[in-house]
Amino acid sequence: MSLPQRVTLVEVGPRDGLQNESNTIDLSIKIQLISDLADAGLNVIEAGSFVNPKWVPQMADSDAVISGLQKKAGVRHAALTPNLKGFERALAAGADEVSMFAAASEDFSQKNINCSVNESLERFVPVISAASDAGLPVRGYVSCVLGCPYEGEVAREKVREVSTALLDMGCYEVALGDTIGTGTVGSMSRLLDCILADIPASQIAVHCHDTYGQALANILVALQHGITIIDSSVSGLGGCPYASGASGNVATEDVVYMLHGMGIDSGVDLKKLVIVGARVSRLLGRQSNSNAGRALLSENF
Ligand code: HMG
Ligand code: MG
Repeated sequence: MSLPQRVTLVEVGPRDGLQNESNTIDLSIKIQLISDLADAGLNVIEAGSFVNPKWVPQMADSDAVISGLQKKAGVRHAALTPNLKGFERALAAGADEVSMFAAASEDFSQKNINCSVNESLERFVPVISAASDAGLPVRGYVSCVLGCPYEGEVAREKVREVSTALLDMGCYEVALGDTIGTGTVGSMSRLLDCILADIPASQIAVHCHDTYGQALANILVALQHGITIIDSSVSGLGGCPYASGASGNVATEDVVYMLHGMGIDSGVDLKKLVIVGARVSRLLGRQSNSNAGRALLSENF
């Protein structure tokens, strides 16, 4: 079994996690969380989202979050930008990188960003051009790669087509989003066989929600396919406001525990990360969704 020696984790908790919180979260808590995650060794952190605040009120303060961060050397703070207006807000706030999000399913695209998949790709062209002028890297997302809450099964070829379009436009990598967490080792493996026939593994990340408890297994399959970029969310925070029933992303603590157990370097200090996860869970008034986090804490590691 060939596995990478090192993996880059993209921490999406402050965005994908907190965008789905029903309670309002203080600005200072968001800023502290992002700073603590960087201290634990996470150097790519999705810190906010510049979408319409009427659609996702939880991210309405992303301007203040990102402009309020104390930048640390070597840490990239990314933000979602669905259109030029979002990009301009992200640039003004001081984001280091922006992400555009498309879908492999028409119905999800309409519900999530109010346009068809092709229209969304057209909308991204001026955003990429503005990002390139400003020197900001652009990441692409494709949602619903292993199932859609409205359409059910999604064709692998459609995922490949949208991923290729994003890369051709100038995205430096594409994160494959299992938005509703229905993927399995079988479907993830078939999807990656199809995608990697055309796209190098170095340009693909996996973004697994853990609704059906399959995320770690699916990530292992991705590692076996040569993928080295994994999205995760501290203490498994999250969901998607336009995919009802979707639970959080795979917990970063669980991914780090698995990687270290396989001798793969993540650059993350697991002990520090578990403390960050426990703190944010306490502030949100709930138990952590990370199994490794809860187990390590109960052992007073
Ligand atoms: P729209 O209504 O079609 O946009 O929304 P519009 O261009 O017609 O503008 C309508 C109004 O929105 C205008 O204001 C604009 O100024 C305003 P009004 O004149 O009515 O007062 N507006 C904005 N305001 C602030 N920032 C902006 C912005 N854009 C327009 N950027 C839009 C289109 C994309 C904006 C909307 O559909 C939207 O905000 N959607 C957000 C959906 C979202 O955030 N979903 C969750 C993130 S995706 C996700 O979680 C999946 C992921 O994790 C991967 C996975 O798991 O699969 C990434
Ligand atoms: Mg997501």
